[in-house]
Amino acid sequence: MSEEKDTLMAMIQRECESCRSCELCGGRHNVVFGTGVTDARVMFIGEGPGEQEDLKGSPFVGKAGILLDKMLKAIDLDRKTNIYIANIVKCRPPMNRDPKPEEQDKCIPWLRKQFSVLKPEIVVCLGRIAAQKIITPDIRITKDHGKLYNKGGTVMMPMFHPAAVLRTPSSKADAFEDFLRLQELMKEKELI
Ligand code: URA
Repeated sequence: MSEEKDTLMAMIQRECESCRSCELCGGRHNVVFGTGVTDARVMFIGEGPGEQEDLKGSPFVGKAGILLDKMLKAIDLDRKTNIYIANIVKCRPPMNRDPKPEEQDKCIPWLRKQFSVLKPEIVVCLGRIAAQKIITPDIRITKDHGKLYNKGGTVMMPMFHPAAVLRTPSSKADAFEDFLRLQELMKEKELI
C-alpha cells in the first residue's frame, strides 16, 4: 500500500465527484470513480457505469462485474488486492447507451489523472469503446482481442467486454484465453 498514492487518488476522487463538465452529471446517482488498490501494476478500463454501478458508486458490480470478478479470480487477480478498475466515463449514460465522443473527451482527463497516479505496467481495455479510445481507433475487438500494444512503455491489451461475453456465450473460451495470456504476461514481467 502506498499512502502517498492513496492520498493523491482520494484527492482526485473528491474533485471528480463534483464534476459537471458534461450532461451525464444530470442523471447520476453517483460518480463511479474507480476501485482497487493504488499500487496495482495492472489497470482495467471499461466503458462507463450501468444501472447497478450508478446506484452503488462502484464499477463492474452488476452481472458483467460478477463474470469479470470470476475471470480475475481464476488468474489470482482481485480488486481488493492487486488491480485497479475504472471506466472511460464516470457517470452513467442514459439507457446504457454508448458514451458520446464529446462525453468521453470531457471525462478522459480524470482517467489520465488516475493513470498518472497508478503508473501501471499493463492496461487492459474491456470492450470496443475503451480499446478504441485508449489504444487506437482502428481496434476491432473480435479480431484484435488478446493482442499486445505498446503505448509510451505501457503494455495494453484489448479484451472482450464481459457484458459481450454474457450476450455471446460462444466467446467465453476466447475471453478466458485472453485472461490466461494476461497471466503469462504478468509472469514474464515478474509481476506475479
Ligand atoms: N460496464 C462497464 O463498462 N463498466 C462498468 O463499470 C460496468 C459495466
